[in-house]
Amino acid sequence: MDEPLLTVSDLSVTYGPRDAVRAVTEVSLEVHAGETVGLVGESGCGKSTLARALLGLERSSGEIRLRGEVLTSRRTQEQARGMAIVFQDPYASLNPRMSVRAVLSELLRVHRLRPRDQIDARVRELVNVVGLPQRTLEVRPAALSGGQRQRVAIARALALEPAVLIADEPTTALDVSVQAVILELFAKLSAELGLATVLITHNLGVVAAVCDRVAVMYLGRIIEQAPTEQLFGGPLHPYTRRLLEAVPRLEGDRHARLEALPGDPPDPSMIPSGCAFHPRCALATANCARERPLLTVDGLPLVGVSSEAGAHSVACHLAGYQERT
Ligand SMILES: Nc1ncnc2c1ncn2[C@@H]1O[C@H](COP(=O)(O)OP(=O)(O)O)[C@@H](O)[C@H]1O
Ligand code: SF4
Ligand SMILES: [Mg+2]
Repeated sequence: MDEPLLTVSDLSVTYGPRDAVRAVTEVSLEVHAGETVGLVGESGCGKSTLARALLGLERSSGEIRLRGEVLTSRRTQEQARGMAIVFQDPYASLNPRMSVRAVLSELLRVHRLRPRDQIDARVRELVNVVGLPQRTLEVRPAALSGGQRQRVAIARALALEPAVLIADEPTTALDVSVQAVILELFAKLSAELGLATVLITHNLGVVAAVCDRVAVMYLGRIIEQAPTEQLFGGPLHPYTRRLLEAVPRLEGDRHARLEALPGDPPDPSMIPSGCAFHPRCALATANCARERPLLTVDGLPLVGVSSEAGAHSVACHLAGYQERT
């Protein structure tokens, strides 16, 4: 396989005095050109923190490489443009006084992405790529629907010509009927433009439909990662199983959402010993409270980053034995 566009190794982010809040811990992830990786997990598990760390907006330890090049916290303008993000709420990120044409033109001008005489053509191309009619250009954000506004936000992200596109719950603020359409657009753009896309979403139905690979987070760590079909067809981690059980008729349901699970919500300032999931896990043994399970592939410790050759990695002492329990 080609070298990944994005390689994350052992990325950790902590907050507060004495690093008391461990929001993201030792996350490793690879995303290749044209690939869409879904990132799922309950609210508070560290998804947005991870996204911000990738963009260089959080102080983090570990390593982030873009096209093989190590990124430090001081990124050059070109490195910074290499990753773009689309947020949940397109209202908050679009200037209400500017037409769509003005928003996109200004961006291209400020970043010197096109010579002056080519800006107009590029703006028209961008709205076309995200599936908006040309007349949208003359309109201000308030006159657009939520879905259209999110398309403008995507066009703005694409204007930067990023290698990596990160979408942090980009459809949470939208009507259920347009959520799937927008998420599908991310996957389509990723494949067509050869982007490495990280899609953070609660919408498990769409994850199943559009993501190539899925990483499941629990209390800051990736605890299972696999090609989408393998993850949905044979989840190995008890937490992943619970998430999927909480979505009864996932198949064919493009609106299936990830609901909060019963039990105390996990708190990253008080991460349980051993396997962090053990207080909520029906299969937990005494050993689970003592020893943290490492990520393994086919029962063997995972070496390096976890996406190689469609590997299915999981961090659970009992993964693989569960069919018998
Ligand atoms: N600036 C911050 N200071 C302290 N704690 C934070 C900060 N940002 C996020 N956290 C905590 O880190 C954890 C992960 O948050 P977040 O990444 O937003 O989760 P998610 O996006 O998965 O819902 C949460 O417990 C949150 O309260
Ligand atoms: S390691 Fe133990 S507590 Fe953790 S998920 Fe596996 S069985 Fe449950
Ligand atoms: Mg979030």
